[in-house]
Amino acid sequence: MDRYAVFGNPIAHSKSPQIHRRFASENGQELTYDAVLVPEDGFAVAVDDFFTRGGKGLNITVPFKQQAWAAAQWRSPAAELAGAVNTLYRDAQGRLCGDNTDGIGMVRDIVQNHGGRVRDARVLLLGAGGAVRGVVQPLLEQQPQQLVIANRTPGKATELAGLFAELGPVQGCGFADLAGQSFDLIINGTAASLQGEVPPLPAGVLAADGWCYDMMYSAQVTAFGRWAQQQGAAKVLDGLGMLVEQAAESFHIWRGVKPGTRSLVDSLRDSLT
Ligand code: ATR
Repeated sequence: MDRYAVFGNPIAHSKSPQIHRRFASENGQELTYDAVLVPEDGFAVAVDDFFTRGGKGLNITVPFKQQAWAAAQWRSPAAELAGAVNTLYRDAQGRLCGDNTDGIGMVRDIVQNHGGRVRDARVLLLGAGGAVRGVVQPLLEQQPQQLVIANRTPGKATELAGLFAELGPVQGCGFADLAGQSFDLIINGTAASLQGEVPPLPAGVLAADGWCYDMMYSAQVTAFGRWAQQQGAAKVLDGLGMLVEQAAESFHIWRGVKPGTRSLVDSLRDSLT
């Protein structure tokens, strides 16, 4: 049977096996999908071993996405710019190929699943780490009116914006620089939620009828989600849909089949503790 897996460290929390097994059973695909704890210093060897033994495809999660990017012999344009790879497979020539489905997953969740608007919208991205870098190009592809990347360390945001400047209207800044501006869509890609914190954003930064999206998810509304509610956001979404959509896109790359996602998001939501 065709073998797939997710590599990470830690990995016990990963929902990828549950998601991909469900995609497989719903689409008549015979495959196995396991979660593998890879030693911090053992990534390249583990990847090589997996494919040498006939493995078909890997998802890559923290902390290995940059190493997966480096290991790939061919990278999709999305992966190339993201600087990170979350999906690996071998092509017909045996080359190790890397893709990144995180950004397309998030955009699909916002635009297709929820009917949100990115085109012509003023979009604010919070943070300038790997999570944000992975979504900049797919957001710019939607042709927003402007994309502002704001970060605690402003220099990292301006540097990141510079990498994507040729693709669309993107600028970087610090949080205080946002005073007097407002946005139709604010996306949180900072790690602040992990500490239950919200970046210090000036009043009025969310436009009337604005939407908020947290790339993180949890059983309870995230700290950023609560902030969004307090600002009167028209819609507050978390990253559970992004998780499922990025998996669906990986599944499509590997199997050529596009799985449905809605009922899976609902059942994952019910199972969050
Ligand atoms: P990841 O790859 O998951 O994005 P990262 O590269 O460590 O993780 O980046 C974490 C992001 O969260 C950074 O943008 C970080 O801001 P700095 O670049 O200034 O470090 C941001 N971040 C982390 N904790 C934060 C907090 N308490 N408030 C605001 N931003 C925070």
